[in-house]
Amino acid sequence: VADSRPIGVFDSGVGGLTVLRALRAALPREGFIYLGDTARLPYGTKSAQSVVRYSIQAGDLLVEQQIKCLVIACNTASAVALNALRERYAPLPVIGVIEPGAEAACKASTSGRIAVIATEGTVRGGAYQAAIHALRPDARVVAQACALFVALAEEGWIDGPLVEGIVRRYLEPIFSTDIASHPDCLLLGCTHFPVLKPVMAKVLGPVVAIVDSAETTARCVEQLLAQQALAATESRAGAIRLLATDGTGRFARVGSGFFGERIDEAAVELVDL
Ligand code: DGL
Repeated sequence: VADSRPIGVFDSGVGGLTVLRALRAALPREGFIYLGDTARLPYGTKSAQSVVRYSIQAGDLLVEQQIKCLVIACNTASAVALNALRERYAPLPVIGVIEPGAEAACKASTSGRIAVIATEGTVRGGAYQAAIHALRPDARVVAQACALFVALAEEGWIDGPLVEGIVRRYLEPIFSTDIASHPDCLLLGCTHFPVLKPVMAKVLGPVVAIVDSAETTARCVEQLLAQQALAATESRAGAIRLLATDGTGRFARVGSGFFGERIDEAAVELVDL
């Protein structure tokens, strides 16, 4: 059976376009509706209660659009609101980025020493730490909030000496010990961080594997569609609707960098939640 309904993807803003990009590459036949809650970005500094409330409003809008599954591309929302959304929309499948990210890190790490960088809200809730320990109970996890990385990524400052200095300042305390005892894997637990990967690789050198959840999440969605016979057989290639709660111009401009492709402002629909 073919299922031509779109896949709903939600993020606090434009960062989740890194996840949409991976989803589209893995599932070229599927259609997508992406909602960026730009009016209330950032989620990373807000309380869990607010993020759960915002996530439910965003989820409701997408579910009304007859989606076949919901992907929470935002790490902060996945960390605090996944269970609430699963309960609310059951039996609709809801996939977050935390478990796929934890899986990618556990695979990439040899020593079991894993560093996670994310927003304040994601680190505070301990969701990554728990997801990694569930897969690998002996893992040693250090988690660090890197608030400035979100601003750098949105500003398009992704290289140069200033950016390197900031990256060094956040990462050096985690990786200051000798190679034999520091983490061998850095998990990027925030939608915005993949664009800073080259500078992080430069600062950390080749001994640290840097992983993010975008590709693993896309693979999870692919498996889910296959298992539940939800995949589209007729191609809806290129069918992507982009919705934002504020600033369609900024969404298009900043979002293009995350999506890796030019987004036209006219293609972004303004919605209210
Ligand atoms: N999307 C958020 C995340 O992945 C980062 C931006 C924000 O704080 O809203 O955690």
